[in-house]
Amino acid sequence: MTAASPGIEVTDLVRVYRGGKAGSRHALDGISFTVRRGETVGLLGPNGAGKTTLARVLSTLLTPTSGRVRVAGYDVVAQARQVRASIGLVLGGERGLYGRLTADQNVRYWAAMCGLGRREGRQRTREVLRELGLAEHADRPVERFSRGMLQRVHLARALVADPAVLVLDEPTAGMDPNAAFGFVELVRQLQERGTTILLTTHDMREAQELSHRVVLLDQGRIVAAGRPAELLSGLAEHRVVSVAAAPAGAVERLAAAGGTGTAVLDRSGELRCTVSGTHQLARTLAVLGEAGCTGISISTPGLDDVYRSLIPDREFSVR
Ligand SMILES: Nc1ncnc2c1ncn2[C@@H]1O[C@H](COP(=O)(O)OP(=O)(O)OP(=O)(O)O)[C@@H](O)[C@H]1O
Ligand SMILES: [Mg+2]
Repeated sequence: MTAASPGIEVTDLVRVYRGGKAGSRHALDGISFTVRRGETVGLLGPNGAGKTTLARVLSTLLTPTSGRVRVAGYDVVAQARQVRASIGLVLGGERGLYGRLTADQNVRYWAAMCGLGRREGRQRTREVLRELGLAEHADRPVERFSRGMLQRVHLARALVADPAVLVLDEPTAGMDPNAAFGFVELVRQLQERGTTILLTTHDMREAQELSHRVVLLDQGRIVAAGRPAELLSGLAEHRVVSVAAAPAGAVERLAAAGGTGTAVLDRSGELRCTVSGTHQLARTLAVLGEAGCTGISISTPGLDDVYRSLIPDREFSVR
């Protein structure tokens, strides 16, 4: 890492995918942000927002259409080799491991690609596999690994050369809750060691727990950025009223009653109503009570509520 440079510095980055039936697409449409050294920034946003595109530009897999991107002080275009030596990348759902090779062989192969000598490569491979709880599985071919285990092998590969900057694109996708919890602990250890981390996730709790700052991306543009507490302060007057199993029609009754917050039903059937101020809170509780709701709980908003307040719900359509 060059002296005093931020871990990641993105200035007016545009990335256009050309061609295709839909014509050109501005996957990234002029974004600027930095990740300071040792900082973890959570990169959030809906499907298609441009997160993976950004991860690929940072790791030199894609070149910027315009703008400037520096990783560990190095320019991703002019100094791609130095960037590759400074960055570890985990792409969610990524293939790119050799199925017939063991975890140990896969990671050692990558260590060699990163320029580590034979002995150092072997030693570092053993270390990272142990840290990731894969020591016992080191000599098994990875084609027999579960998805969560594969994800850990990817992470081992990203960490073997001890990169200054780590880009994690949905690293816990497909992990069971225990594995995801273990992963959060692991990221904390990396944070303590001073690794700069850009973490993409759809798990708002994970983002809130791990990020010093978050950047919210939508349709290739940054719509909000700041410390989780800063973003939440915009919702300081808000409370979230939840009903685990709401009776039919409760959402409609709230809407018809007026003076309540806006309610939504999530996929599990939980009703969540965001209210602003005590008047709305009292009115919402009264209407829910009349509607026969039991098991009502009140909580302060989280990052998921910030997300919902900023990102419009675009219905999926199949063409
Ligand atoms: N190789 C490609 N060619 C053309 N368009 C692409 C290509 N890769 C991505 N896109 C488009 O660029 C936009 C951003 O995609 P990207 O994969 O970066 O989104 P994302 O934020 O990672 O989404 P998700 O949360 O689903 O992973 C989308 O509209 C996508 O369709
Ligand atoms: Mg993606």
